[in-house]
Amino acid sequence: MQQVQVLDKSFELLHTAQEIQRHVKKLGKKLATDYAGKDPVFIVLLNGAFIFAADLLRQVTIPATISFVRIASYQGLTATGNLKTVFGITDKITGRHIIIIDDILDTGQTLSFLKNELLPEAPLSVKTVVCFRRKIKHETDRLTDYVCLEIEEGFVIGYGLDYNGYGRHLKDIYRLK
Ligand code: IMP
Ligand code: MG
Repeated sequence: MQQVQVLDKSFELLHTAQEIQRHVKKLGKKLATDYAGKDPVFIVLLNGAFIFAADLLRQVTIPATISFVRIASYQGLTATGNLKTVFGITDKITGRHIIIIDDILDTGQTLSFLKNELLPEAPLSVKTVVCFRRKIKHETDRLTDYVCLEIEEGFVIGYGLDYNGYGRHLKDIYRLK
């Protein structure tokens, strides 16, 4: 599919599922190497990261636990700036290595918010993984430790990312025209 219509907007193909999978595999293997023997906790940000995390974590063939957290920040195409944890982490964080998994790094607000929430629990380390990062340079770009794929500017959907709740289960990713 070269194009998709979601609600009132048209989107064009940006990266295919095969391209994404190639990068996901590579990153999963790197995480398995970097965290071997460290018994990490992966924290998956819902809803956006659910597909990426499912693919990525099946490549991470080391002992680890997985928690899910939900933070709301986007309404339609724009960030609202009001971040709040909707539901939280069930794993014990103290003394563990934490890896937060998100779908895309935009302003970096979501990841720094969650990092700050975790620090009082005294984890051994906190690192972040995102599936996509826009190529435009933000100050906060340095906040993420692992990136699967750098993408061009523009609002994207598919592979977990939505426009007003739609488009998450598209296999490829598409950019707003
Ligand atoms: P940040 O806190 O500004 O880095 O925003 C990150 C969050 O905003 C992601 O976890 C997404 O849920 C959402 N987001 C940012 N860019 C897009 C996009 O292009 N499409 C869909 N959701 C996006
Ligand atoms: Mg999100």
